[in-house]
Amino acid sequence: MRMSHDTKEQELKQSYLQEHFGGEDSHLQKIRQVAGEKGREGMQVSPVEGRLLQSLVAWSEAKSVVEFGLLFGYSCLWMARALPEDGIIHSLEKDPKMIELATGHLRETEVWSKCHLLEGDAEETMNTLNEQGPFDFVFIDANKGSYLKYLEWAEKNVRKGGFIVGDNTFLFGHVYGVPNEERWGQKQIDGMREFNARLADPSRYQSTLIPTAEGLTVAQKLF
Ligand SMILES: C[S@@+](CC[C@H](N)C(=O)[O-])C[C@H]1O[C@@H](n2cnc3c(N)ncnc32)[C@H](O)[C@@H]1O
Repeated sequence: MRMSHDTKEQELKQSYLQEHFGGEDSHLQKIRQVAGEKGREGMQVSPVEGRLLQSLVAWSEAKSVVEFGLLFGYSCLWMARALPEDGIIHSLEKDPKMIELATGHLRETEVWSKCHLLEGDAEETMNTLNEQGPFDFVFIDANKGSYLKYLEWAEKNVRKGGFIVGDNTFLFGHVYGVPNEERWGQKQIDGMREFNARLADPSRYQSTLIPTAEGLTVAQKLF
């Protein structure tokens, strides 16, 4: 009984959130529709999470954002819309097909001039951005096994007071020992635990792990 009550409550909570804090315009809807048709909607942030990211970018008054993991451009569009006129978002993506599809989506929007899409393995392309930093806001949402490397780059290339945000930081339950997916190796699990532990250090970050469905670590850099 308790189980079905919890499930019903979860459904009601999600639809309440979606109704009030997950509204999308036609561009966001189109991207979500395409992602769904390709069976990859679950890979991108939800509408409510997109709005949360957009709010974080706005609240931090960021002018420059670096995103690791573009996919169809969904989270990129949410964040780009929080940037000022002279703001920029660099989004790193290794799959050329995704660069092509995301370009098609973002080019139709009012924020296309703020979007700089970089094709290639982010472990390499991130270093081509160094001279344009320091950056105000980094969002890490690419391959989970490289989160620590992306964090090391962000620690050097985000300004004091800027933000480092990572998605999927529960690693599907693995970080706290209750996995609901088995496809992660010990190295990746240890890596994500280390990622969160570093960002949890109060002497270096003002931070929290927001308990979204998959976990969103949000940290303001204090050094
Ligand atoms: C979870 S999806 C990103 C979702 C997107 N941030 C959103 O919410 O709309 C992860 C993306 O990272 C890309 N990716 C995986 N490994 C990568 C790497 N080494 N360098 C750059 N991109 C990578 C994948 O191709 C995929 O498009």
